Amino acid sequence: MIYLDNSATTYPKPMKVTKAVEYALKKYGANPGRSGHTMSRESGMEIDKCRRLTAEFFGARNVKDVAFTLNCTQALNIVIKGLLKPGDHVVTSCMEHNAVMRPLRKLEKMNLITFTAVNVYPEEPERTVDAFRRAINSDTALIVCTHASNVWGVRMPIERISALSKIYGIPILVDSAQSAGILPVDVSDFSIDYLCAAGHKGLYGPMGTGILVTHYGDRLDTIIEGGTGTNSMTFCQPKEMPQKFESGTPNMAGISGLRAGIEFVRSKGVSNIFKHEMGLVTYLYDRLKEIRGVELYMPRPRCEYFVPVLSFNVRGYISDEVGKILDAQGIEVRTGLHCAPAAHEYVGTLERGAVRVSPSVFNTKYEINKLVDSVKNIKLRI
Ligand code: ALA
Repeated sequence: MIYLDNSATTYPKPMKVTKAVEYALKKYGANPGRSGHTMSRESGMEIDKCRRLTAEFFGARNVKDVAFTLNCTQALNIVIKGLLKPGDHVVTSCMEHNAVMRPLRKLEKMNLITFTAVNVYPEEPERTVDAFRRAINSDTALIVCTHASNVWGVRMPIERISALSKIYGIPILVDSAQSAGILPVDVSDFSIDYLCAAGHKGLYGPMGTGILVTHYGDRLDTIIEGGTGTNSMTFCQPKEMPQKFESGTPNMAGISGLRAGIEFVRSKGVSNIFKHEMGLVTYLYDRLKEIRGVELYMPRPRCEYFVPVLSFNVRGYISDEVGKILDAQGIEVRTGLHCAPAAHEYVGTLERGAVRVSPSVFNTKYEINKLVDSVKNIKLRI
């Protein structure tokens, strides 16, 4: 099997990750921070270890600025719903995932907020930043921006958008689902107020792990309340990070795997991983370009402007049909709308979707050649 759906979740996981999960379940599978016994303390210590590493990895000012969530979607909801007040306006982009679009739309439908999704201009960062600037109004209370499109691989000029947010005094929320582990992400260097990431993608952790990094947790209301193992005398939710956003039993074994995943990424080096994967998608782009009937929508992916995600179509086919043909040959890609309809609407692929190829550090040129051969053999209908 050739797995090229790493933007959905990375597979396989490094051996270290599998071992960490197994070890956690076998050796300290108690509820962390709840009971005073040895195994519960050990379990809590493992989570602290992952928290320290995550804080360091994302340049957080404080270890407590990191809260673990179940996925990136949950982290994004915590910020969007916890921060926005009636009458607020949000500026976001047309490349956002439904994890951003749906919470925004829900709040809009309740007549609580309004939002503007601006166009993005691949390879024209100035124009993109300008689109954000022009959408800001006196009610704008949040800028939400993905670091990289999960469909088109377009890399957003996040440092500049963040600088813009500072000029206007508006907080910025960055969705790093597709960039963490692939691009450098430093909340201090980039002045990011709220960073949300998936643990199971470029960080090679298990599914069921997400991350919120913020120094401004005190500005967010909670959307979930419950037991935290702290201040149990009171019915009120703790106000402190990270407990404030970590009610309920955490995915302890998953977090242990995430720790091993981040260690794996650090040992490989983010820039080496990026270089390897970009090499594969650039090669893929060049090969696909030679095939009659293959439709490519973006320019040749250059490192400054793209992350290693490439989507295409085959003339006369809807993307799901191509996905089935490839699947029958043991090649796993994601087709359809990738939970990002706005990104497809922008490019004009809302009807057919697109065939998305997203490699990981484990993929090889041999596998890309296999994929190219399979695409070449698809019989054109027109
Ligand atoms: N958001 C994930 C993807 O892009 C699931 O496939």
